[in-house]
Amino acid sequence: MNYLKIFAPATVANVSCGFDSMGFAVEKVGDEMTFTKTSTPGVRITQITGANGLTLDPTKNAAGVVALAMLAQHPVDFGIDITLHKGFSPGSGLGSSAASSGGAAFGINALLGTPFSTLELTKFSMIGEEAACGTPIADNVAACVFGGFVLIRSYEPLDIVKLPVPEELRLVAIHPQIEVKTKDAREVLPTAVPLKSAVTQWANVGGLVSGLYTNDYTLISNSLTDVIVEPARKHLIPHFDLVKLEAIKAGALGAGISGSGPTIFALCKGDTVAQKVADVIRHAYADKQIAYHVFTSKINTQGVQILESN
Ligand code: HSE
Repeated sequence: MNYLKIFAPATVANVSCGFDSMGFAVEKVGDEMTFTKTSTPGVRITQITGANGLTLDPTKNAAGVVALAMLAQHPVDFGIDITLHKGFSPGSGLGSSAASSGGAAFGINALLGTPFSTLELTKFSMIGEEAACGTPIADNVAACVFGGFVLIRSYEPLDIVKLPVPEELRLVAIHPQIEVKTKDAREVLPTAVPLKSAVTQWANVGGLVSGLYTNDYTLISNSLTDVIVEPARKHLIPHFDLVKLEAIKAGALGAGISGSGPTIFALCKGDTVAQKVADVIRHAYADKQIAYHVFTSKINTQGVQILESN
């Protein structure tokens, strides 16, 4: 393979109760990236479109950092040119750096003849996450690379469990057009957690995982509760409580902060409820003097996808 164009999906990390340990991939929103073999050794990011302020420097851009780490472990006698078209903004809470990192890991692996496993691609992608936000978090990148719902059962050693996706599960998301940096959103987190809150949180993770396996939408709904991270972060997101309340009143199974925000996600059963929830959250934000974007999507079960190759 000499050329590859891929789609790298946006992702929703945490999914309320699963801070740093759960995530899922989005079907409709994501980045497009191309990877072209060249005769000049090295990695070049030749173009970035769709977002401002991202560096072309491969030693600083998440995609370049991942590519360089992979080539250091698997040296080749050709070079690779990368282009990046961002389908959504950095700082949105939808895994922008994870899409760049996961997409790069997948694309470079394909040009190298697929020497690395999906788990290894996740590890490389985490290096990109560390470059972008200071911490090698796996929830967004694993969801991007594996697709569907993922559970990061362990970081050391990295152990990813791919979870089933109930057929009728739908995402509704509202992205207020403000930027929340993951680094900043991690600085407001508590450093100690009362045992009672920890018990509530891990019981809900168990409930959510069980609900996904058994298609039990009531159990999924009851488990979409975050008593640790959401209370500490929600002040960073204008009108979070209103949007969450309206989404649940309109029939959403639950709602919370997507990753580190500011996007607010809701999970719904079926297209009709998802449409209604999209309408009410759009209405909730309509007079708030903040630009916003609302979308609905199925859960992406494939992860990174090849769009073209030769
Ligand atoms: N789990 C991460 C967080 C996701 O909430 O900080 C953002 O990368």
